Amino acid sequence: MTQPIQQAAVTLAACRSVVALTGAGISVESGIPPFRGKGGLWEKIDPIKYAHIDAYAQDPEAVWRVLFMKLKDVLGKARPNAGHNGLYHLEQMGILKTIITQNIDGLHQQAGSRDVIEFHGTFAFQRCMSCGQKLDSKQVTLETLPPRCACGGVLRPDVIMFGEIIPMHDLQRSQMLAATCDAMLVVGTSATVQPAAYLPVIAKRSGAAIVEINAEPTPLTVDISDVALIGKAGKIMGELVAAVKQVRMETHGANDF
Ligand code: APR
Repeated sequence: MTQPIQQAAVTLAACRSVVALTGAGISVESGIPPFRGKGGLWEKIDPIKYAHIDAYAQDPEAVWRVLFMKLKDVLGKARPNAGHNGLYHLEQMGILKTIITQNIDGLHQQAGSRDVIEFHGTFAFQRCMSCGQKLDSKQVTLETLPPRCACGGVLRPDVIMFGEIIPMHDLQRSQMLAATCDAMLVVGTSATVQPAAYLPVIAKRSGAAIVEINAEPTPLTVDISDVALIGKAGKIMGELVAAVKQVRMETHGANDF
């Protein structure tokens, strides 16, 4: 067990209210590419041309062909990995209370996590741009693109696209959780997209400990993170959960979880 993992485990084991902030990096080991960095989606697809709400309003068919059909494919095949499962275990141990995820893949819920804020929405539902009706994506046929609602309106995935704002309820609840948690576990995000990237700063300024897990350093690593565990989330989360159990065992005896 490395010293930083030990340090992170001691910090988390002493907590009663941990909030996690996750990003694309936690789902990479489930076969979903990240957005940025090597092999990132935005290296191949221009996000302003294909992931901005104005682009969708102008040419929804092109956005479906270039971006959403690809996403539908990789999301359909993806299953939770040790990273998602590790957070579920911390929830079972009564340490982790809520996950704020930037991911639209629903893998935290598939892993069993109960309180998940989908900060950037979800691909599991479509919404009509005319009547606002919400439909389960599984019930939407994609023979013709863009898919249409019964009212004739254009359907769009219920995700937050560039140029759109975060629903007020999710934003306020996430900021409140950041300001009141004991610790924030930040996993697999480049911490470059606002307002999500500011949540660890709110937590830090409110006295919480920040534990970061990421494949490479981020803007949080130097000034905000108290412990930075650099590497693959799946591997590190497995080691971290085992270390937290060990610390709990040593401090409270075998049956304190
Ligand atoms: N384990 C841990 N971290 C990883 C792994 C891995 N296996 N693979 C990649 N990473 C890291 C990368 O080093 C990078 O820092 O995950 C981070 C992913 O960053 P982004 O691709 O920028 O994803 P994210 O931070 O979630 O993006 C935020 O931007 O494009 C929008 O709406 C989209 O929700 C997304 C938002």
